[in-house]
Amino acid sequence: MSSIKHYLQFKDFTREEYDYLFERAKWIKDKFKRYEPYHPMFDRTLVMIFEKASTRTRLSFEAGVQQLGGSAIYLNTRDSQLGRGEPVEDAAQVISRMSDLVMIRTFEQEMVERFAANSRVPVINGLTNEYHPCQILADIFTYIEHRGSIEGKTVAWIGDSNNMCNTWLQAAEILGFNVHVSTPPGYEVEPERAGLYGTDNFEQFADPVDACRGAHLVTTDVWTSMGFEAENEARMKAFADWCVDAEMMSVAAKDALFMHCLPAHRGEEVTAEVIDGPQSVVWDEAENRLHAQKALMEYLMLGRVEPR
Ligand code: CP
Ligand code: NVA
Repeated sequence: MSSIKHYLQFKDFTREEYDYLFERAKWIKDKFKRYEPYHPMFDRTLVMIFEKASTRTRLSFEAGVQQLGGSAIYLNTRDSQLGRGEPVEDAAQVISRMSDLVMIRTFEQEMVERFAANSRVPVINGLTNEYHPCQILADIFTYIEHRGSIEGKTVAWIGDSNNMCNTWLQAAEILGFNVHVSTPPGYEVEPERAGLYGTDNFEQFADPVDACRGAHLVTTDVWTSMGFEAENEARMKAFADWCVDAEMMSVAAKDALFMHCLPAHRGEEVTAEVIDGPQSVVWDEAENRLHAQKALMEYLMLGRVEPR
């Protein structure tokens, strides 16, 4: 089953594949906005497995596959055998015999790797503790729409070195941009967990304002990710100074954008002034999950498709 292409982390694709996907996402988006039907997934089925909550990921995958002519089935841990100890390997064998594509949101990255190793169909990581590649795919597509190529640009990551941060760092290595990271002490990037090749595309800053200096994109995420709720109280104290505010935006590049994968907590990781302000593109970013993932699903199922 090793010849099947999966999307388990950002570095699973090359720069050339991303160039194709960003162009393809634009083509699919434009066509959809013109109300022109496009059904390359006719009669095909996406299975979505959720072991954590979701609004955007479920909506964008479910709407996306339907718009491409296919259908989606939602499974969760509560009312499937997945929550009752059926081995992941067995579940992968069965689910992949009844579907054409699988999307999984779960805790450990190891679970999606084990599933993929036993799947007859492509598997997509819809968020793990370690990575969130579909979100960064949409975020970079959004950056390109607003500002053009991200190559050589600087992204400031403020806050937790979580799944989003790790994925930005992988993307920087592949697409050739820089990431300025500022986390509270004790929450620094772990390069091995982030899955980095060891290139020098990121720099750590003790002060979040310094990390934002000259950045073309400032971005952040919740202080406490799903699965880490027991640490919430300690994190609220540790992260208090890592709130993206007007001062941080003022030292960034003049035309810097602000992004947040959402859901957001105004007054914690970002002020209302910034997330609801003129530099914020969070709603485009959320919408682009739909278009970018349609390109991703088409690519995993059909490979490269010429515009038609
Ligand atoms: N950004 C994101 O993945 O949102 P959901 O948790 O709502 O899917
Ligand atoms: N880092 C957050 C992202 C949510 C979309 C989490 O894992 O909960």
